[in-house]
Amino acid sequence: MKILVLGAAAGGGFPQWNCSCPNCRMAWEGDPRARPLTQSSIAVSVDGTRWALLNASPDLRQQIARLPALQPQTIGGRHSPIATVILTNGDVDHITGLLSMREMQAFTIHCSDRVKLALDKNAVFNVLNAQLVTRRSLPLNDTTDVLDADGASLGFTVTSFVVPGKIALWLEDLTKADFGSIEGDTVGLKITETSTGKSFFYIPGCAALPAEVAARLEGADLVFFDGTTWTDDEMINTGVGAKTASRMGHMWMSGPDGSMAAFDPLGIKRKIFIHINNTNPVLIADSSQRKDAWARGWEISYDGMEVIL
Ligand code: MLT
Ligand code: MN
Ligand code: ZN
Repeated sequence: MKILVLGAAAGGGFPQWNCSCPNCRMAWEGDPRARPLTQSSIAVSVDGTRWALLNASPDLRQQIARLPALQPQTIGGRHSPIATVILTNGDVDHITGLLSMREMQAFTIHCSDRVKLALDKNAVFNVLNAQLVTRRSLPLNDTTDVLDADGASLGFTVTSFVVPGKIALWLEDLTKADFGSIEGDTVGLKITETSTGKSFFYIPGCAALPAEVAARLEGADLVFFDGTTWTDDEMINTGVGAKTASRMGHMWMSGPDGSMAAFDPLGIKRKIFIHINNTNPVLIADSSQRKDAWARGWEISYDGMEVIL
């Protein structure tokens, strides 16, 4: 099974168009320690010809441009190796790449009923012709074969499981508890290769690690996990926002209540942070925080990273 990191950054990318935080400033100035990143998404393939996107970033067109495996493989006509898109939630940085996938191309979308409802209710997604683009429901806490537009298996299954989180920012209802979030608004994904049973997890948004999620991850070969911020109050401290990571539905990395501490006892073989916000000091190549994360067994993903499982 081959995994390509199309984008490693959280919403906004790195640098973000309107951001002049210390990290973005370095990136704008071309400092080689601050490598630019597009917004988070990975691609997975078992057969090397048909690919699944896990989330579709607004930077998808740019991501395809740099990865020949995702470009049309035929001479003449229309073709895409992208056979399906599997969504973890309805966040703008995870779904708007779908809008770049119009142009009468057949593929499937796999997502929770909650995310499907959000897509179904938003008429802009009608740019995806329903005759060609099938929206498939992923039952929560269950395993489903991942199918292309012809109904053929891509050679792996997806297990979609509930993780702590919230409804997409653009759907928040401030008059309701938890902003109107309900189960299925954010899920984690386990991808399992059918022929070998090899598996990995993709969890780009997760607000906490309760025992049932920790138990799923225990002993895993590979986990991509929410690397949005280093500290809970990072957006406030860098002067770019008023929200904590927890308010945004994300765990932070450092300290006794951070994700690194929560993962320590789980015996996971390879741990990779993804969906990294532009304010996060781990993005800077020589930062003490990046060294700290490495020392604790975490890799920081980057655009173009390849993992073979
Ligand atoms: C998030 O990860 O919290 C979202 O992408 C927020 C947003 O929509 O900007
Ligand atoms: Mn995001
Ligand atoms: Zn910034």
